[in-house]
Amino acid sequence: MNRSNFAHVRAVGSYAPPRRMSNDELALLVDTSDEWIFSHTGIRFRHIADDAVAASDLAVEAARIALDRAQMPADEVDLILLATSTPDHPGLPATACVVQDRLGANRTAAMDLVAACTGFVYGIETARAFIQSGSARTVLVIGAEVYSKIINWKDRNTCVLFGDGAGAALLCASGEDNPSRVVDSVLYSRGQGAPALGRPAGGSRTPATAADGSDLYLAMDGRRVYTFAIAAIIEAIESVLKRNDLTFDDIDYVVPHQANVRIIDAAAKRGGFDPAKFFTNIAEYANTSAASIPIALDEMVTRDLLKPGHRIITVGFGSGLTYGANLIIW
Ligand code: ACO
Repeated sequence: MNRSNFAHVRAVGSYAPPRRMSNDELALLVDTSDEWIFSHTGIRFRHIADDAVAASDLAVEAARIALDRAQMPADEVDLILLATSTPDHPGLPATACVVQDRLGANRTAAMDLVAACTGFVYGIETARAFIQSGSARTVLVIGAEVYSKIINWKDRNTCVLFGDGAGAALLCASGEDNPSRVVDSVLYSRGQGAPALGRPAGGSRTPATAADGSDLYLAMDGRRVYTFAIAAIIEAIESVLKRNDLTFDDIDYVVPHQANVRIIDAAAKRGGFDPAKFFTNIAEYANTSAASIPIALDEMVTRDLLKPGHRIITVGFGSGLTYGANLIIW
């Protein structure tokens, strides 16, 4: 066991299903318009999985890309952490185990992590803790979601907001000589806000067999989530900066959960943060929950925006209510 290990992000990958649905197509299903959706959310498109496609299928694609880029065989991975709120099966077996098998990661522990849209941020900190303690040397953190399967396609308040996709990050142990690392994280839970966002039925409180069908879909108090999200982004960024004696000027990019451009803009404005440092790609993917941050990271890598030594903050917020941030030196 080596307690001087640090955890660095060695490679990322992402995958979105090929079917790309525009706002105009949605306007054929519900009473909405491209103008309303874009002006209220910043969304133009979302990618939608085929009927037969589940979260594990998207996760495997994203994970394979990350492993290929790192030139790492799957059986060198010690742990798979799969953040999802749309698992292949309700509760068991874990989708992470399905992914472990499909990757051929034969000596790998695997578990799901449920922190909704904050899932990837929770996953990065969990991976850092495993690596830093010496319990693991290589951890695959995946966010994979198929919200198209849990939203009510007749409810314009929710169906316009979400899309399907997956992103993966491979975290590896490294020594003090490698400046690239996950430096610190802040993670929060505010369970009193749980009713604002979630699926009212289908779990052990109200089993699917006893549920009114509409309670099986995602339900959201949009105004309440909006207010929470702005405060959560500001608190998470300020806390992680303060704990590390940094100011916002020391940060190159913030990679926020891609929920809504208006939320991100309002948080930047109210927090006094330079909005130009917030990366967004929600126009193409809509809100992919736990997958949105790694999909954004992958696009930033592909566009050569992230350079070694860059300080970035990933910030997530979502159902739970949960929120948190990771401070990463790229
Ligand atoms: N098209 C047209 N009209 C719509 C649509 C739509 N798709 N959806 C809602 N409306 C209507 C409403 O019915 C309402 O009409 P009414 O006044 O006749 O009742 C009107 O628009 C205004 O509704 P509001 O809820 O006040 O609209 P608001 O300006 O607050 O925007 C929104 C709604 C975008 C959902 C906002 O509340 C929001 O951003 N909330 C955060 C939700 C979010 O991002 N959730 C993502 C999941 S959570 C997460 O990832 C953390």
